[in-house]
Amino acid sequence: MFPETRLRRFRLNENIRSMVRESRVHAEQLIYPIFVVEGEEQINPIASMPGINQFSLDHLLEEVERAVSVGIKSIILFGIPAQKDAVGTEAYNDEGIVQKAIRLVRGAYPELVIIADCCLCEYTSHGHCGIVTEKGDVLNDPTLSLLAKTAVSQARAGADIIAPSDMMDGRVGMIRAALDQEGFTNVAVMAYSAKYASAFYGPFRDAAGSAPQFGDRKTYQMDPGCSVRQAMHETELDVAEGADYIIVKPALAYMDIMSKTREAFYQPVVAYNVSGEYAMVKAAAQNGWIDEKKVVMEIMTGFVRAGADLILTYHAIDVAKWLAE
Ligand code: PBG
Repeated sequence: MFPETRLRRFRLNENIRSMVRESRVHAEQLIYPIFVVEGEEQINPIASMPGINQFSLDHLLEEVERAVSVGIKSIILFGIPAQKDAVGTEAYNDEGIVQKAIRLVRGAYPELVIIADCCLCEYTSHGHCGIVTEKGDVLNDPTLSLLAKTAVSQARAGADIIAPSDMMDGRVGMIRAALDQEGFTNVAVMAYSAKYASAFYGPFRDAAGSAPQFGDRKTYQMDPGCSVRQAMHETELDVAEGADYIIVKPALAYMDIMSKTREAFYQPVVAYNVSGEYAMVKAAAQNGWIDEKKVVMEIMTGFVRAGADLILTYHAIDVAKWLAE
């Protein structure tokens, strides 16, 4: 009789389980998203994202403080302008909503890591991530210089990291070159590299008012069934163009991509736990169908196990609080 192997010996009590536990979540790896709007006295709840609001600048610092006070080191800002137009002018206006928000937060929190989402869809009247022809085709190359202008304007306002989420080909290289040319060599690029054309973005589009007015994003965002090699190809191009961090988005249905990305590249991998993933958990929890805290912590642990270094999530403040309990 050979000695019997019993994995149960690793599970007998919490001390042993935690001693051999490999995947752990910590507050320092969380990135908290915040939506900012023009106007005053605005705290507008997003119906499809319970607990998440749009904030006007006079309430922004309260929300930032809520995150900082529980140990979160990084936020990502999304701006919703008062005026939208065909070319997304407000995205690259130095006095635009996100630029004002960055300056305000930077002034109050010199060390907080401020990430700026860099895309045109929140700023265009048609809701596409780039400029479009009359027929509705997205014009990749003419969009690149507008994204580069947006990135420089966000860096000038004080952003530490620019996160292009538009999925135009060649944008990371254009943004990197523009940042360097303006002297922002220390500003990093966190590229949404493997970003899929996903139905999980619905609640975000309610929050940002960025649903496309016609068509969809399938010509520029990735097809969910495309090969894993295509995801690696997208990422390889972004890395070659200068991406410092790699985002995989959405997260839950794309954990294979997260783990492959971790193996294939050296850059930190970011899991973007998107709005629809958040909404599903919230809806089930509100119905009493799942235990919210346990489910969220299991999801976060799964991201880490799959290879995520950082987790961008609307649950961030709750997670940080639970970790501290
Ligand atoms: C902008 C952008 C989107 C998200 C982040 N940046 C929406 C989209 O591509 O339609 C989605 C985030 C989420 O669902 O939480 N391009």
